[in-house]
Amino acid sequence: MASSESSARAEEDQERVVDTTEQDDVTSARRTTPEQDLVFEIENVTVSYGGRPAIVDVNMAVARNQVTAFIGPSGCGKTTLLRSLNRMNDLIPSAAMTGTIRYHGYDLSSTGVDPVEVRRRIGMVFQRPNPFHKSIFDNVAFGIRLHDPRSDLKDRVEQALRRAALWDEVKDRMDASALSLSGGQQQRLCIARAIAVDPDVILMDEPASALDPVATQKIEDLIAEIKDKYTIVIVTHNMQQASRVADMTAFFSVGDSAEGERHGILVEYDQTTSIFTNPGDPRTEAYVTGRFG
Ligand SMILES: Nc1ncnc2c1ncn2[C@@H]1O[C@H](COP(=O)(O)OP(=O)(O)OP(=O)(O)O)[C@@H](O)[C@H]1O
Ligand SMILES: [Mg+2]
Repeated sequence: MASSESSARAEEDQERVVDTTEQDDVTSARRTTPEQDLVFEIENVTVSYGGRPAIVDVNMAVARNQVTAFIGPSGCGKTTLLRSLNRMNDLIPSAAMTGTIRYHGYDLSSTGVDPVEVRRRIGMVFQRPNPFHKSIFDNVAFGIRLHDPRSDLKDRVEQALRRAALWDEVKDRMDASALSLSGGQQQRLCIARAIAVDPDVILMDEPASALDPVATQKIEDLIAEIKDKYTIVIVTHNMQQASRVADMTAFFSVGDSAEGERHGILVEYDQTTSIFTNPGDPRTEAYVTGRFG
């Protein structure tokens, strides 16, 4: 996408996420000037479940139109942090966050921010494909009907399926159940469903971990194809996958607090090539060379 078009869309994102009718409440969400082209600025973020910290004091930023990978051993809080980027943790009653996450300069936790609009702008694809028990067409049309009912539905569905590299495989069976698709096709359908509502960011939590190598390759190719249009944050346990698809990589691990509690921490965040070939922290090196985790 041309950068002028991209920044025009960023302005639009900012306006839509903050409900300006609640003027009093918007004050704390008011936009700061984000550094460069940053989509997320994560500052001193700690997420706890029932008072037990799962991930502690994370500071990092996510740049526009880049693929950012979260890697690290099981339980270090990758999913927890990912879910906090579109306020999915709000749906878990025991979860609580401290610190600040700014999205295009707006504080995502502010009361003036509409979580439903946040989740439309910041879509999510889960580890296991989770299509609705509906037709292929209706899966992709679902969000469009909800958010933009006056748009040309057929056109938008086709566009999303093409962008998710699934159109050719499903164009003759749009009324078939989504559950009749293979696992890899179902995952691309979920990506099409996320794309259909015209998001700005797509969060992916191990999107290929349940897929065979051929389907995995298709997902990776798809990520490479769509990254000029979206900002992507992907959790993966597959190091090769992180090194193939990601521009930036964040390595998380599990550390001990002074009180002896174990919780996730961000160890190192850098260009993917640095993380894999010249990491600055011995813990990162041990992990990426397979000596740990
Ligand atoms: N809904 C929840 N309720 C309570 N604790 C949770 C919940 N979700 C995660 N946790 C805890 O938070 C910590 C981080 O979990 P999280 O799922 O974020 O890790 P992860 O890095 O994604 O692990 P994996 O690689 O296995 O997916 C773990 O100790 C986990 O048990
Ligand atoms: Mg996880």
